[in-house]
Parts: sequence; C-alpha cells; structure tokens
Amino acid sequence: MDPRRSWGALALLCLLLPGGHPDPCQVSIAPQDPVVEFGASLLLNCTSSCRNSSRLDWEVSVTKVGARGPGWVSLSVPNVTDWRLELYCYGVFGDHRPIAATTVYAYRLSPPQIYLEGDVVAGKETRVTCNVSARVAPPDPPDLRLTLAGVGGGLPPSTQRGPRLGLVFTAQPEQHGREVTCEATLRLGGRTLNASAATTLWVW
Ligand SMILES: *[C@@H]1O[C@H](CO)[C@@H](O)[C@H](O)[C@H]1NC(C)=O
Ligand SMILES: *[C@@H]1O[C@H](CO)[C@@H](O)[C@H](O)[C@H]1NC(C)=O
Ligand SMILES: *[C@@H]1O[C@H](CO)[C@@H](O)[C@H](O)[C@H]1NC(C)=O
Ligand SMILES: *[C@@H]1O[C@H](CO)[C@@H](O)[C@H](O)[C@H]1NC(C)=O
Ligand SMILES: *[C@@H]1O[C@H](CO)[C@@H](O)[C@H](O)[C@H]1NC(C)=O
Repeated sequence: MDPRRSWGALALLCLLLPGGHPDPCQVSIAPQDPVVEFGASLLLNCTSSCRNSSRLDWEVSVTKVGARGPGWVSLSVPNVTDWRLELYCYGVFGDHRPIAATTVYAYRLSPPQIYLEGDVVAGKETRVTCNVSARVAPPDPPDLRLTLAGVGGGLPPSTQRGPRLGLVFTAQPEQHGREVTCEATLRLGGRTLNASAATTLWVW
C-alpha cells in the first residue's frame, strides 16, 4: 500500500473513531472515484449535509479555484498533471470536523493498433497483433486487457492481459471484407476505460 494512502486512512480513522454516535453533519465529494485523462480538466463538488458549518473547504496541493454556495464548495482543476492526486474536503461544525477524502487518477490511453503480418492468403496461417499504450500513476503498470475479435475461422474472441496480443489464424475466402476489431480496456481507480480499433480483412 502507498504509505501516503495508509497515513491518510489512519488519519481518517482517528477522526472517525471518537465519534461513536452518528453525527448528522457529514461532508461528501462528488463525483466518487474521479478518473480523468492526463491534462484534462476536472470539477469536483464537496457538499455538507448540514448548512450550519462555520467552514467548508478543500485541503489540496493544487491551486484552489472554485465556487461556493450554501452547503457546498466546488474545486476546479483546469489541467490535471498529477497521475495521482489526494484531495480532502473538511467541514467545521462547532467541535465536529468531518473530513472526506478522494483520490484523482489520471491516465493516458492511446487507440490500439492492429497489424497483420504480410498478405492474408486463404488457407494459410496469418499472424495478427494488437497493441496499445497506456500510462497511469507509477509504480503500478496499467491494468490493461486486449480483446481481438472477428478473426473468425472458428476462433472465438481472444482476450489477454497486457499491452500486446498476438493470434495466429487461418484465413478463409469468405472472410474477405470482414472486420477485425481490437478493444483495449484499462481499469483504474474503480473505473473501466476503453478504446478500440478496427481493420478490414483483405483475403487473397
Ligand atoms: C454543488 O452541489 C450543490 C448541491 O447539490 C449544488 O447546489 C451546486 O450547484 C453544485 N455546484 C457545482 C459547481 O456544481
Ligand atoms: C497542462 O499542463 C501541461 C504541463 O504543465 C502543459 O504542457 C499543457 O500545455 C497544459 N494544458 C493546458 C490545456 O493548459
Ligand atoms: C448543525 O445542524 C445539525 C442539524 O441540522 C445539528 O445536529 C448540529 O448540532 C448543528 N451544529 C452546530 C454547530 O450548530
Ligand atoms: C505498437 O507496436 C509498434 C511496434 O513495436 C509500435 O511502433 C507502436 O507505437 C505500438 N503502438 C501502440 C499504440 O502502442
Ligand atoms: C466503451 O465502453 C462503453 C460501455 O461499455 C461503450 O458504450 C463504448 O462504445 C466503448 N467505447 C469504445 C471506444 O469501445
């Protein structure tokens, strides 16, 4: 576990433990599980279940830009350039100071590329490869899956983990003009992102 995350979790636990009885005033951040493309903008909204806070604000390492209204404060990040960003929102209701935390994950996912090795000749084996590039917060490698479909000839869609998938198939004359598709899915921060590509088979 990331030490910063475990400290964050511990700090949250300490804040929550003495409570015991449920307090009506809580803060929450929307959307949950924010995942954005690297460099894209993000708008988050922190709302409090009570309107009588003496403070409601963000605790963040980025420049704070946002708006506020009764019971809410928004945070706008015009350009997400951290692969992982921890954000906190807290409220002050007398002695009660609830806090909400969220982690923003940024990603890059290119469209996949499909390669056919040489000419596709009916009755002969052909190798088809699909690859994709993705980037997420280090140190974890991107959790990628590739699915190659439409190769037909009795071959079901093939799925594999990782950024590259190769398959050998025997082309049939009736496959001429059919589409081969490759779909990449990236799992990150509880979300699934995808990108796909297609190419038309030319069988000689
Ligand atoms: C934040 O949420 C509150 C309550 O749902 C809403 O009234 C307000 O318009 C939202 N602010 C933004 C910037 O979306
Ligand atoms: C976002 O930030 C990066 C790195 O600081 C910069 O290269 C890029 O131009 C910025 N994009 C926008 C839309 O501001
Ligand atoms: C704020 O309002 C809630 C209910 O709306 C109440 O339970 C709580 O005691 C109030 N807190 C303060 C500090 O006034
Ligand atoms: C796929 O692999 C080729 C050859 O290694 C490389 O040139 C290309 O950039 C890769 N494409 C993607 C989307 O990663
Ligand atoms: C990604 O997945 C969604 C939902 O499953 C689907 O509607 C969308 O077409 C997919 N996009 C691509 C590029 O495959």
